[in-house]
Amino acid sequence: MKHKIELPNGTVVECAEQQNLRDSLRDYWDQLYSPGARLFHCRGMGTCGTCALLMEGEVSAPTKVEQWRLGFPPHVPGSGLRLACQARPKGPLKLTKFSGFWGQNRGPHSSPR
Ligand code: FES
Repeated sequence: MKHKIELPNGTVVECAEQQNLRDSLRDYWDQLYSPGARLFHCRGMGTCGTCALLMEGEVSAPTKVEQWRLGFPPHVPGSGLRLACQARPKGPLKLTKFSGFWGQNRGPHSSPR
C-alpha cells in the first residue's frame, strides 16, 4: 500500500507503507535534512537525529533507538518530532522541517526553514 506524503515545500509524493520515510524520500533529501546535515548524518541508523520532522498523520510507533535519540539535546523529550529514518507511514502525512542543524527548533518562536 502507498500513502500520499506532503513534503515541506508542498510537493506530494507517494511512499510505500513498508519503507521508512528516509528510504522512500531519497530524491528529496534537501527537505529532510538541514543544509549542513545533508553531508553529515548517520545514514539511517537513528543515532544522529538530523532527520527529525514533524509528521502530521499516522505513522509507525517510535523505535527504541528513535526514543533514545530524541530524548537528549539538542532534541527535547516530548517535542512531537519523529525521525524519518525510523518512521513508516500508515496513512497520508504532512511533513514539516524546522530550523537548526538537527531540525530541532520547534517552538513558539521558531519557524520552518
Ligand atoms: S539519519 Fe540519522 S537519525 Fe535519521
